[in-house]
Amino acid sequence: MAGVTDIAAPFCWGILGVARINRSLVGPLRQGRHQLVAVASRSLDRARAYADAQGIPTAYGSYADLIADPAVDAVYIPLPNSMHVEWAVKAAAAGKHVLCEKPIALDATGIRQMQEAARTHGVVITEAFMYRHHPLVAKVTALAHDGTIGRLQGIRGTFSFPLDRPGDTRFDAGLGGGSLWDVGCYPVSFARTVAAARPLAVQGAAAWSEGDVDLSFFGQLHFPGNVFAQIHCSFESPFKTEVEVIGSEGRLLIRHPFKPEITETIEVQRGDEHTTVAVDGPPLYQGEVDDVAEAARTGRPPLVTLADSLDNTETLVALLEAARTGATVALPT
Ligand SMILES: NC(=O)c1ccc[n+]([C@@H]2O[C@H](COP(=O)([O-])OP(=O)(O)OC[C@H]3O[C@@H](n4cnc5c(N)ncnc54)[C@H](OP(=O)(O)O)[C@@H]3O)[C@@H](O)[C@H]2O)c1
Repeated sequence: MAGVTDIAAPFCWGILGVARINRSLVGPLRQGRHQLVAVASRSLDRARAYADAQGIPTAYGSYADLIADPAVDAVYIPLPNSMHVEWAVKAAAAGKHVLCEKPIALDATGIRQMQEAARTHGVVITEAFMYRHHPLVAKVTALAHDGTIGRLQGIRGTFSFPLDRPGDTRFDAGLGGGSLWDVGCYPVSFARTVAAARPLAVQGAAAWSEGDVDLSFFGQLHFPGNVFAQIHCSFESPFKTEVEVIGSEGRLLIRHPFKPEITETIEVQRGDEHTTVAVDGPPLYQGEVDDVAEAARTGRPPLVTLADSLDNTETLVALLEAARTGATVALPT
C-alpha cells in the first residue's frame, strides 16, 4: 500500500473469482502502472489454472487469502451480486481499495456498510459502471440541459439480451439474479445521470421466472420538474442497447450508451435538422481501473461515489417493490 501515493509506483491488483467478465479487465489491470499480481478462486486448482493461462504470478484457493496479501493494493470483485458487499467490506478492512462490479449492493444497508468501511479504513470503494468513464454520458447530459433539444422532458433506455445459459447466477434469486439488477441497472444509472436528479417515485411491471427473478422489466421513473424516464431490460429479447433523450424541441439518440466505442456518436434531431456529435473516450474498461488508482493516490473521490450508488440502488429496490405490489413507490427521502 505504501506506494499508492507515488504516481510512478506500481498499483497492484488482485481478482476475486474466475468470472467470465475478467476477460474484459485483465488487459486494463495491466496497463501503465497497473500490475495484476494475484487471482483467487474457491478452488485452488481453478485459480492456478487461470493464473497460469493469464500469466498472473500468484494464485489463492480462497478470497480471504488474497485480501490478506500485502503485495495487493486493490481488488477487483466480479463475484455474484449477493456477495459484493461482504467482500468489499472485508477487502476494505484489509486495507485494499475496491473496484466492485455492478450492482455493487442489493439494498441501501449494503451501501451504508461500504461507506462506513471506506471511511474507517481510508480506502476507495467504487461501483464498476465502466460507461460512466467515457465522456459520452457527460456530453449527453450537457446537451440535455443546454437548450439543444429545448426543455428536457424524458429519457428512454433499453438493455436486453437473450440469456440462454441454464444455471447462470442471473437466474438465482438468492445470488441477486434478475434482469433489473443485471442490466436494468444501466438505463437507470444513465437516466439518473442525465436527469441530474434522484427520482421521487417509480412504477414497474415485470415477468417473473419460476425461481422468482424478473426475466423482463418495464419501469418508469418520476424526477422533479416533470422529467420522466422509461426503462426496459430483459433476458428474453434480442440484444439491444439504446438511450433516447426527449426534449420539447428535439431529441438525442445514443445507440451504444452502455458500451461506448472509443469514438462514439450522439445523433441530434431538432425539428427537421439531423446532426451528429462525436465524443472520444478511453478504452471501455480502462477508465474505471485508472480512476481507482488516481482516487487512491490523490484522496479525491472516485467518479462513481457510493452516494451515487446509493441513489441507484434505492431506485432499483423501489422499482422491484413497485413491480411486486403494483403500487407507485416513493423513494426514501
Ligand atoms: N461491467 C460489465 O461489463 C459486466 C459484464 C458482465 C458481468 N458483470 C458483473 O460481473 C459479475 C460477474 O458476472 P459473470 O457473468 O462474469 O459471473 P460468472 O462468470 O458467473 O463468475 C462469477 C464468479 O464468482 C465466483 N463465485 C463465488 N461464489 C459463487 C457461487 N455461489 N456461484 C457462482 N459463482 C460464484 C466464481 O469464481 P470462483 O469459482 O473462481 O471462485 C465465479 O467464476 C456480476 O456482478 C455481473 O453483474 C459486469
